[in-house]
Parts: sequence; structure tokens; C-alpha cells
Amino acid sequence: MDTIAILDFGGQYTHLIANRIRRLGVYSEIVASDSAASQCSRFKGIILSGSPHSVLHADRPGFDAGILALGIPVLGLCYGHQLMAQCLGGKVVAGKYREYGIAQIDFVKESPLLKGLSAREQIWMSHGDAVDVLPPGFAVLGSTSGCKAAAMGNEATRMYGLQFHPEVTHTPKGMTILDNFINLCACSRDWNTGTFLREMGETIRRKCGARKVFLLVSGGVDSTVAFTLLNKVLGESNVVGLHIDNGLMRHEESGAVLGSMKANGFNNLHIVDATEEFLSALHHVADPEQKRRIIGTVFIRVQEKALADLGLNPAEWILGQGTIYPDTIESAGTKHAERIKTHHNRVAAVMELLEKGEIVEPLALLYKDEVRALGTALGLPDALVWRHPFPGPGLGVRLLCSDGGEFAVDKDTAGAVSALAGKAGYAAQVLPVRSVGVQGDSRTYAHPALVIGEQNWDRLEETSTAITNGVRGVNRVVYGLRAGKSPSYRRVEAYVSKERLAVLRAFDNLVTRALARSGEYGIVWQMPVVLLPLVNEAGRQCAVLRPILSQEAMTAKFARLTDETLAFILDESRKIDGLGDIFYDVTHKPPGTIEWE
Ligand code: XMP
Repeated sequence: MDTIAILDFGGQYTHLIANRIRRLGVYSEIVASDSAASQCSRFKGIILSGSPHSVLHADRPGFDAGILALGIPVLGLCYGHQLMAQCLGGKVVAGKYREYGIAQIDFVKESPLLKGLSAREQIWMSHGDAVDVLPPGFAVLGSTSGCKAAAMGNEATRMYGLQFHPEVTHTPKGMTILDNFINLCACSRDWNTGTFLREMGETIRRKCGARKVFLLVSGGVDSTVAFTLLNKVLGESNVVGLHIDNGLMRHEESGAVLGSMKANGFNNLHIVDATEEFLSALHHVADPEQKRRIIGTVFIRVQEKALADLGLNPAEWILGQGTIYPDTIESAGTKHAERIKTHHNRVAAVMELLEKGEIVEPLALLYKDEVRALGTALGLPDALVWRHPFPGPGLGVRLLCSDGGEFAVDKDTAGAVSALAGKAGYAAQVLPVRSVGVQGDSRTYAHPALVIGEQNWDRLEETSTAITNGVRGVNRVVYGLRAGKSPSYRRVEAYVSKERLAVLRAFDNLVTRALARSGEYGIVWQMPVVLLPLVNEAGRQCAVLRPILSQEAMTAKFARLTDETLAFILDESRKIDGLGDIFYDVTHKPPGTIEWE
């Protein structure tokens, strides 16, 4: 099959590039960044990925520059663009202007790479370094206000570099650029879901051998598709599904999971209620990474006990997981990637099993959109396939915890936030909690800023970008939906408890009903709700709404809910005991992740 290789320098979007190329019908393979040129001559095209590293540092990943002399078309993206410029005699400098998020590019020269694009297009940036001097033979194809060489090309050698990310959906014409690159590579387009199913069927059978598969089924899209795929490939008698109710599920979720599986004809799913075991292990734990580790470890423990209770001999079984690619990449599961956070299906106990070859993960190379396409191809109903994604550790990662200790917010940070928000007419303060973010391929753990004022989405979006680009200690901005003019919040001791879970579960149920009622459920890609360890002046707990638009969770925009839906949520939420101020997360990803921890 004609193949385009992605050289992996550890960028958060490396696999997304492969996903996009496959979506355009061409098989694409991710290879190590230090692959020898001789191993790459078989490819029809080569893409150099982004990276958390800088080409200006000696510890950057290895790269054989001979690849650039093979005569094969090359497309460098972000770090790859800078690396190409540097290797071919250009110059890269540490950027004076950091760009994270949406920017506008003006194209200044025609090129087959840019066929079908307008003179000005929206693009998605995430960089600090920039190409300052072009290599000989290259011309600038496009510039942004902060970056002159945002696109460069050498038509004679068919080599191109883009500082931005065409692979993310927030570069609306990104797919056209990748499609043009495929045309420049003269590839045949013979890759589709059918090819994947055939190849994956063979891989599953080879991996399992004579063993049967034991799979944890959360009821989410990924594990449901994995369960169905394994049932189809190996037969129902060779698969056992186990749903563990960890006490961190949504409203009446476990019963619904069993019901929907039965309705779909699967009778090989068992349920275990392990609520007490999980909640007691999480008692008085505040650190997010520790919470994830505990949840992952208890999962394995409960699952082992369930295996024993079911009378299954562990030697005859292999563990199945519905892991998809973002779980791996964000846990630094590829060579040069930086850890954003550890997903529960990448904790130490699971990694040990993986190393021993004791786990089968049929979806590990796929993104959510590919998993959904597969689910449809396997005959699953839309109601299952299009369910909003829900993280494995469930509401556990949506209850932000705190040991109640002092937590001073730096004065300069608070001043810088107030100044930037003030310019747009908003009052602002920095909240004394921290949440996870992702900026320039690296993880951040920083404060959210709260802005208060007019509900003007355009202005909130601009203010959010200005604050997260301009203030280092802040990676997220929320808007006060139900907050006084100058509210004050107190950080309190708060852990995973039945009481807090009840508040968050009721709120989650309310927002899900609100979206279903207005028809926005199918538009919003996911809408986490988060309970903060903060109380307002009346002693009521503060919560966050995080509605987002996305395609595969690697990048996202905050979604703008309709006024009617917001009014319904605010009105109904008054009935939830203990719930106080509600904040609306107006941060894109990057710089904020979808979940808060
Ligand atoms: P983030 O927060 O990384 O989320 O932007 C990306 C997607 O992954 C989900 N997510 C998780 N899923 N275990 C999971 O199974 C986890 O630990 C986890 N953390 C985040 C998140 O809901 C979103 O869809």
C-alpha cells in the first residue's frame, strides 16, 4: 500500500496527523524520529511532526537529515517546520511572540500545497520558537501578524514547512492542505474502515491465541465498541465483559449499561458493585495523580477478584481494554511525548501487563471519530455510538479536592490578569485552585482566572486567549454565571465523598437533561461538570460547566450554549442542595485540557 510516514518527535498531535491522512484514504504509519534515511526511501511522502522539544536545544530527538535528500516530498509541521529550516541552512530563533490558539494567516504566494485556499485563512498555532531565516531555495508562502515564515515551500524539491497545525479541526482548511500534500506525493488512496476491521481481526486472533478475553466495560463509547469488536472476532463464548460500578458513575448509569448491552444481544456482561472499595481507597486523597493511580489500581484489584469469583483461571485469560490513542499519547506513551497526565488505563499495574503482552487493546491506534465510525460499521445503534465520552475514572476526576491548606495566589499574576480583563471591561480574579492545561506540547498545572461582566461570547473568547497567552501562571479562564459583582471564595478541605458526589451527579444529570431538551446534546461534543473545593460567601460549593466542541479531544473549542439552555440550568440548579456559584469555562484546548485534572 502507498504509505505516508509521520516521523514522531513526540508532538501531541503526531497521531492525529496519521488519523487525518488515513481519513483521506491513504495508509499512514508513525515511525521513530531517528529512523535512518535508508529505511524511509519506501515511503511516498514524509511528514515531520511537532514536538515538546526545541530545535535550539542539544537534547532534541535524533534525526537523520539524509531524509531531506531522498527526493521524496516532505511536510514539516511546527517543530518539523523549524527542524527542516535548520537542517537545510535556515535559522530558527526562540520566539519573542508566543502564539497559542487561533490566528489568521495571509498567503503571499501560490503553491500546489495551498490549492483551494483563500488569501486569508484561520489557522491554529501552538509555538514559542520560529523560523527567522529561510533555507536557500525556499520562499515564504504565508505569514501571520506574529510569525513571518508561518508557511514556506520549495516547489522544486516538493518540501514544505508550516508553523501551524493543519491536522487540527481549528484550522478549517487544514484537511485541504493535507489533501494537496497527498496529491503532491502521488499516493493511491486505498485505506478504509473495512481494511482496518480485516487487519484488526487478524491481530486480535494472533494476540489472543487460545486465550479468551476479559474486558472491562464502562458503558462508554470506547469500551462498548471494543466489546462488540471482540465479540464479533472471537465469538461470545470467548469474551467476558465486566462492568465495575466504582461509585463514580453518572446518575443511574450502571443499570443503564447492562440494559443497553442486553438490548443489543450481549449476555456475557457481568456487573460488580465496588463503590465502597473505591470510595474508601480515595478517602482523604487530594492529589490528582494519586487519585488516578488509586482508581487504576483498585480497578485491577476488583477485576482480579471478579475473575476469581467467576471461577475463571487467569492463565487462560488475557485482559482487554478499550484504550484509544489520546489515552496513550497524553500519558507520554510514545518516545518523545511529554506527560500531560496519566490516564487510568496507563497506570503502573496496567503498564506491567502491557509489557508482558497480557493486554489486548484493539482501539489503541484510533481516535474517537474513528472509533465511532467503527461502531457504526459494527452495527451499533447511534444512541450508543454518539454518547458523550466519559473518562474511566468518572466523576472522580471531576471532583477537585483539597487538603484545605493555605494557597496564596502570586500578586503579579493577579495584577496581570486584572489588567488584561479590565481592558475588555471585565472584573477578574485568580481562583485559588489549579487545573491541568496543555501549551506547546507540554503539560501545565496552573490557576484559572475568573472574569465577571457582560455575557458577550466574542469578547470572552478574546479575553480568555489574551489572558492565557499573556500570563504565565494562568492556563484557563472561567466566566461567572452566578456570581456577585466582586465575589470572594474560600478554599476548603474537600475530598471524594458520597455527599460531594451526590451534588456533582445531580448537576451532571441536570446539564445532560438541559442539552437533550434543547437538541444541543448532538452539537456539544462533551460537557464535563466540575465541583471545586471553593465555597462562596454563603458557604455553598462552586461548580464549573465545561461544554466543548471537538472531533477527537486533542483540541477543542469551548461551546456557546444558548441563552435558553443556560437559563434552564441556572434556574434548576437552585434546587440542588449545597450548590452555589456556577462558572462557565471559556478556554479552548490548548491552552486548557477538557477535564480539569
Ligand atoms: P483532556 O482532559 O485530556 O481529555 O483534554 C481528553 C479526553 O479524554 C478524557 N479523559 C480521560 N479518559 N481516563 C479516560 O478514560 C482518564 O483518566 C481521562 N482523562 C481525560 C476526557 O473526558 C476527554 O474526552
